[in-house]
Amino acid sequence: MTEQSDLTGQSERSERSGESDPSERSERSSPRGLGYRPIEDGVTTDLTDRLTYAGYLHLDELLSAQVPISDHHDEMLFIIQHQVTELWLKLLVHELRSAREKLRADDLPPALKRMARIKHIQRQMFEQWSVLETLTPIEYAQFRGKLGCASGFQSPTYRSVEFLLGNKNPGMIKVFRHDPETAAALQADLETPSLYDEFLRFLARAGHDVPADRVDRDWSQPYTAHPGVVEALRRIYAEPERYWAEYEASEELVDVEESFQLWRFRHMKTVERVIGYKRGTGGSSGVGFLRKALELTFFPELLSVRTEIGAEDAQGAGG
Ligand code: HEM
Repeated sequence: MTEQSDLTGQSERSERSGESDPSERSERSSPRGLGYRPIEDGVTTDLTDRLTYAGYLHLDELLSAQVPISDHHDEMLFIIQHQVTELWLKLLVHELRSAREKLRADDLPPALKRMARIKHIQRQMFEQWSVLETLTPIEYAQFRGKLGCASGFQSPTYRSVEFLLGNKNPGMIKVFRHDPETAAALQADLETPSLYDEFLRFLARAGHDVPADRVDRDWSQPYTAHPGVVEALRRIYAEPERYWAEYEASEELVDVEESFQLWRFRHMKTVERVIGYKRGTGGSSGVGFLRKALELTFFPELLSVRTEIGAEDAQGAGG
């Protein structure tokens, strides 16, 4: 007999014998130390033909998607950490697409709201590394060999995020040749203006002097910095009160970029402590390859404009 049916049986017996419900007895005798929380009368307990929590969230599918390929205890952590990250990445894609649409429509307040949420998601993704860092090299080594050439490098969700933010690289599509549907979806992301492209177009529409070839270009190609964009941003940063909307959007983008770099950095440090300087399962040099990504920047002029700010005042002042 299960615990639940045992309890139910007890209460049925006491009803038959005219005794009071044991939970009521203990409530009377011990008003503060009940031992458990009685279910309130208003709580729905008959869920036949109703929308349930498990049904709405497809928990059957979600919780049966953790399928270890070894019998090592720690593989479950490895799988769940990746899957949770994939879910956060999926939400990032959703929010980034929406922020981009809002910018395209010159609807800045909701775009900024999306970016605020994006930063909180990034914070979760950053903090999450501490869980995986409990995986020691010897624990990982026990099942690493079973992974073959599978690697996070092949995550389509991650690649969408990179493309949406502006790290365009047409060469990445070939990694998905085995899966034409995914390759086509990524190709579409590659060919669509990134969040930064839309930001620059937004600035141009607001009357800022953004070079024409940055407002209309081959979106599938990597973005390259332009001194004209630095100059446009310098003017915005010189008069924040006058250009508050542009100024605020710029700072939000810098936050998102920094948070992204922190995730990349922590991934690299986790990899370093778990596999040292071994090659990756995906075939790269490993830590060295990941470290190179730290030199990438999504919004180059938003960083270089900082060199210009106050540069004249600081001359000779040692600042
Ligand atoms: C012990 C844990 C991990 C190790 C040893 C590891 C190792 C690596 C290595 C060596 C690479 C470079 C590509 C390769 O040669 O495979 C890579 C790329 C990548 N990994 Fe991990 N990884 C780990 C955990 C994770 C987790 C939890 C995620 C979350 C989804 C993740 C996502 C990625 C992504 C997105 C890339 C591509 C990065 C880029 O293109 O710059 N990794 N990983």
